[in-house]
Amino acid sequence: MTDTLLQAHIKHLIKTAGPMPVWRYMELCLTHPEHGYYVARDPLGRDGDFITSPEVSQMFGELLGLWAASIWKAIGSPQLVRLVELGPGRGTMMSDALRALRVLPPLFQSIQVHLVEINPVLREKQRAALGHLDNVSWHDSIDEVPGGTTILFANEYFDVLPIHQAVRKEQGWHERVIEIDDAGELVFGVAAEPIPRFEALLPSWVRAAPIGAVFEWRPDSEIMKIATRVREEGGAALIIDYGHLRSDAGDTFQAIAQHAYADPLKHPGQADLTAHVDFQSLARAAESIGARVHGPVTQGEFLKRLGIETRALALMAKASPEVSEDIATALQRLTGGGRGGMGSMFKVIGVSEADLNEIAGLTDVARSEASA
Ligand SMILES: C[S@@+](CC[C@H](N)C(=O)[O-])C[C@H]1O[C@@H](n2cnc3c(N)ncnc32)[C@H](O)[C@@H]1O
Repeated sequence: MTDTLLQAHIKHLIKTAGPMPVWRYMELCLTHPEHGYYVARDPLGRDGDFITSPEVSQMFGELLGLWAASIWKAIGSPQLVRLVELGPGRGTMMSDALRALRVLPPLFQSIQVHLVEINPVLREKQRAALGHLDNVSWHDSIDEVPGGTTILFANEYFDVLPIHQAVRKEQGWHERVIEIDDAGELVFGVAAEPIPRFEALLPSWVRAAPIGAVFEWRPDSEIMKIATRVREEGGAALIIDYGHLRSDAGDTFQAIAQHAYADPLKHPGQADLTAHVDFQSLARAAESIGARVHGPVTQGEFLKRLGIETRALALMAKASPEVSEDIATALQRLTGGGRGGMGSMFKVIGVSEADLNEIAGLTDVARSEASA
């Protein structure tokens, strides 16, 4: 089969500059300005590659809207709040959240909505969902969002940020790379030299990982920006994603296309590439600069604490038997475990200004050290 344009470009870069680190491959596949996965398509929904929580049910966005209202009250009901969403998809979550927030007119009037999105196709969908409002603006990065008290959401945003991977060998940890085999195909390899002094950066329990183990990490830059913002400007952020509560070894780099796992090295730019989010490392980075961390907790636990079961019953009371069944299925999907259940695989963490002691859904959660 002939190579796609992005595949040919990646092979050309490898031939001229040498093996390509996993993070660079992931970055090119997702955000190459012409051929990147997140540059030219809407990947969401039944006809797309995957479904996210806001697309499963309106209850998700509504509860996050009420969560934002509780933060607004807790920080003294400021007259201007920047409601920021990173990677807002089709705008469904923000639209549902704003509908729930309308019940509090003083809050609704104080909101400026800021959507951080690089995908022009999804920006169009966000405009269709939210463009009738006069307080919405779009940005390419969080750096462009003006200062001011901030309430920020990031659902399934961190998992698409590029990861580094390192592989344990006899001489130490080597960066994992993509290279070209004798048949001309992209394959995984490792850099010739170990990463200097890498072990010192690892949690103690990962240092003893066996030969062949993989450790992956993301740069702290995005969480640092979020944490700095809420610490200095006031407010809180909610990060929701699939991932683990404790930093650990393991290869979670994966491709998803048409609701199934795919080979991440085949069809670059045609499949979503993701890796689990390390919530312990997010917490450590946010705390290191003086922000307050709340949780993490599983999505199921978080949504139940916010009252999703009561909301589901209220919706079901007004619905036909068929719609009622759909609501029950959505509730199970958002809060339950097992196959297809997002309740245990997804985790939620709050990051806030230092003085905020309590956060709805996340207060009094013991910081779990258990891997999940
Ligand atoms: C997995 S989707 C999640 C969408 C939405 N949050 C939801 O839950 O339905 C990832 C979102 O992040 C956006 N995105 C990906 N990389 C980005 C980047 N580097 N900067 C801003 N947005 C990005 C995508 O276009 C998309 O809107």
